Amino acid sequence: MDTLTASSRSYRLTNEQIPPTITESISATERLALTRTIKAALKQQNAVIVAHYYTDESIQVLAEDSGGHVSDSLDMARFGSHATAETLVVCGVRFMGETAKILNPEKRVLMPDLSATCSLDIGCPEADFVAFCDAHPDHTVVVYANTSAAVKARADWMVTSGSAVDVIRALSGQGEKIIWAPDQYLGDYVQQQTGADMLIWQGACIVHEEFKAQELQDLRRLHPQAKVLVHPESPAGVIAQADLVSSTTGLVNAVAQMDATEFIVATDSGIFHKMRQAANDKILIEAPTAGKSATCISCAHCPWMAMNSLQKIAQVLATGNNEIQVASRYIQPASQAIERLLTFTNNNAKQLAGDA
Ligand code: 13P
Ligand code: SF4
Repeated sequence: MDTLTASSRSYRLTNEQIPPTITESISATERLALTRTIKAALKQQNAVIVAHYYTDESIQVLAEDSGGHVSDSLDMARFGSHATAETLVVCGVRFMGETAKILNPEKRVLMPDLSATCSLDIGCPEADFVAFCDAHPDHTVVVYANTSAAVKARADWMVTSGSAVDVIRALSGQGEKIIWAPDQYLGDYVQQQTGADMLIWQGACIVHEEFKAQELQDLRRLHPQAKVLVHPESPAGVIAQADLVSSTTGLVNAVAQMDATEFIVATDSGIFHKMRQAANDKILIEAPTAGKSATCISCAHCPWMAMNSLQKIAQVLATGNNEIQVASRYIQPASQAIERLLTFTNNNAKQLAGDA
């Protein structure tokens, strides 16, 4: 494969590769019974749930009620490392479970559904990516968290949506040229923010890619006071209209902190639970995903995040099935790429505290 092919080929999924979004349908009585069973199992097995904001509200409530954690992908990784529990039940998508395992190889990491993946992870196959990196040995390799352990193992740095701009700015400031993978929209956004010299992999998130710039403009006319909150995996035309572009945690905090009562939100609708919790009196409006001539595929809800359910959590705790395994050859190099980020963000936080 030549370098031009690697950088110009699209790694987007076809519709056939995207599963339908199916949400768990259970009665209130069943939910209560499952919740009790899961809480007892967590206690007995010294386990905690670490969940992403995009999972079902019932999972987020259970995670917090049982001493676990709900957050973005960076904070999920941090929490897993500090938790004293012997078992982490990671409710999210596969790369989140793998990251937890890489940082905590001695812990048991379970996931409700091992087939819960991510279009960015699928769109960055190890062999193609390694060949691309090998063809550009003078570049520093920076990958987004939404990648396999194998891809992280080939990277110098792993970053998340909340840290990408700062890391690339720092690397670019040292004169480094960057290979960025796999999200093209986040890559373009980071490039535009930092002016860094970047080769950008052409992957995409099937959820955020569906937000529509023209329809967003129309919606803003109907809600002229609304602030627009956008996750940076969205297309440039949507990002251009944002009052805030941020990681999921930044978007949740903005609803509580920004001086506005209405918000148009361009990210997975699972986040609305946390946003309502943060500021119950604010009006939240989904950014449009379907244009006049299009129908949405994900409709602002990740089909892989939706694979997590209370029933499956109860099942993995009862059976011990669905344990995440990461090949030992990937653990050390992938862990180095992740640890670089954790050290970087810790130092940034200390510096900010010092400056305050
Ligand atoms: P965050 O790191 O902002 O939580 O994003 C993860 C993700 O998968 C967004 O689609
Ligand atoms: Fe991946 Fe997009 Fe789902 Fe996030 S929302 S896990 S980036 S497919």
